[in-house]
This record gives sequence, structure tokens and C-alpha cells, in this order.
Amino acid sequence: MSRLKTFFADCTRIVAQKLDELVPSVQTAPKKLHEAIRWSLFAGGKRFRPALCLAVGEAFAASRENLVCTAAAIEMIHTYSLIHDDLPAMDNDDLRRGRETCHKKFDEATAILAGDVLQTLAFQAIAEDKNLTAEIRVRLIAELARSAAKMVAGQQLDLEAEGKKISIEELESIHRNKTGAMISASAKAGALIAEASETEIEIISNYAEKLGLLFQITDDLLDVTQTTQVLGKTAGKDITAEKATYPALYGLEETRKLAEMVHAQSCQELKKIARDTDLLCEIADFILYRKT
Ligand code: IPE
Ligand code: IPE
Ligand code: MG
Ligand code: MG
Ligand code: MG
Repeated sequence: MSRLKTFFADCTRIVAQKLDELVPSVQTAPKKLHEAIRWSLFAGGKRFRPALCLAVGEAFAASRENLVCTAAAIEMIHTYSLIHDDLPAMDNDDLRRGRETCHKKFDEATAILAGDVLQTLAFQAIAEDKNLTAEIRVRLIAELARSAAKMVAGQQLDLEAEGKKISIEELESIHRNKTGAMISASAKAGALIAEASETEIEIISNYAEKLGLLFQITDDLLDVTQTTQVLGKTAGKDITAEKATYPALYGLEETRKLAEMVHAQSCQELKKIARDTDLLCEIADFILYRKT
């Protein structure tokens, strides 16, 4: 197994363990709510955001013990965003992570509430993480709250742009908000926990902002080029919903070139850091070439 594959496998395992600790069991009342949360959370997502948080934290010598709770909290916020993204009032999707979406398996009200709880549980987990100082906990909560709000703003802009012709600046802003912000926050959280210097935190944020944009560009590409079976979510949905995407605006060829450019910009940032950032560079490669 390559270094990156082993790293992702380790992250998936330790994050799953922490999530299981943090989320009430299916025996806890109201059972339906906790079944719904666990249905979406343990459906086999890539766990990219927690992995990024761990990779950045470890690049700056933080311990896994100190990182894992925040990494799990980030995955909770992400899963909440997916549950709500799939709702009939938003993207109206039936398939997520290879299984029925939360509102299809349960019902809309339960899906809304499952998302709500995942979000509050995430902030509770960080506030109560005894491994971290009070100051770091507050900084993490502020950073993630600000980014989760940007994600919501991006979702609003994404919906408003359906069926409209928008400018490239507007499209980039949607992608930076709806997806880039939480990815950037994941990396920044790792650097904050490691108590990296302010300059290092800024460079890491720049690296991850590019990475976040790249992530949504490749998500747009995969929607057009990949199958539903491989993606575990319905392929081709963006065209049907007349979403504002890079392939819709630029075509496939140009979008691929743009993805390569954003990838290069992301890796370029890492050269400014006097630490071993090979794994972070490999993560950028992984996002450029990902198949799911
Ligand atoms: C999907 O995110 C939503 C976007 C922001 C594009 P992921 O592709 O990370 O989904 P999972 O977590 O692996 O299911
Ligand atoms: C979703 O973007 C971004 C989120 C904040 C969840 P998409 O709507 O493109 O994500 P998918 O393709 O449904 O995973
Ligand atoms: Mg969407
Ligand atoms: Mg969607
Ligand atoms: Mg998409």
C-alpha cells in the first residue's frame, strides 16, 4: 500500500472510532433520530476533511490524540451538509454514499433534524475536548463556525444560480464558499492544534483554499464523467438540475486544464514551509486524480 493509502486507511479507522464515541447509540431515544444520523455518518464517505486535518496537524508535529476529536467534528459538520444538500428542497437526491439518502430512508423532518444535531454535536465535541487548551478550543470553534456559515452561504448561491448564466467570478465564489471554506478550515484546524506559527497557518490556509476549489472542480468533473455506481451518488445530476459548474461554463477539456492549474498553485504554497510537506502534496495529487 502507498503511504497515502495507509494514511487514509488509518484516518478512516480512528475517525470512525471517535465518531462512534461522540454520537449517541441507536438505542438512545429518540431512536429514529440516532439511526438516521448513523445511517448517513457510517455509510463509507472518503473522510477527506478529517484526513486533511490530521495530515496538516502531523506535518506540524501535533499528536493524533490531540487532532482526532476535531477531525471527527469536521466530518460531522460535513455529513450534516450532505444530508441537507440532498433534501428535496435543495438538490433532491435519492442516493448518497452508495445508499438511500437520509430523507428517503427515514423522512424529511428526521433528515433535517439529523443534520441539525450533527452540527451541534460537532461544536460540543470540540468545546469538551480535554486534550486541548481552552484558547485553542475557542479558536477552533470560531474558525469552524465561520466556515460552516460560508458553506451555507455557498449553498444558497448555488441554488440561486440554477438555470442561470453566471460569470466565472460568481462560479468561483460559489465553489469557494460551498466547498472550499470547510476544506480550508479542516487544514487550518490541524495547524491551530499543532500551534504552528501565524505565518505557517496563513500559508496552510492558502494551500487548502486552492485545494478546496480543486475539490469542487473535480466534483463537477466526476458528475459528468463517472458512473452512479462508482460515485455512490447519482451521476449527471448537475446537467439535469442546470447547476452552475465548471464543465457547464468551460467544457471538459478547459476544466481539466484549470484543475491542473489550481493543483499547481496549491502545491506551490507548500514550498514556503520548512517542514516535510510531501504528504500534503500527495493529498493535492489525490484530489486532482480522484475517481470518486
Ligand atoms: C461531497 O463531498 C460534497 C462536496 C463538497 C463536493 P465528498 O466527495 O467529500 O463526499 P464523501 O464525504 O466522500 O461522501
Ligand atoms: C455540495 O455540492 C456542497 C456541500 C456543501 C454539501 P454538491 O451538491 O455538488 O455535492 P454533491 O455532488 O451532491 O455531493
Ligand atoms: Mg448541492
Ligand atoms: Mg448535491
Ligand atoms: Mg456535485
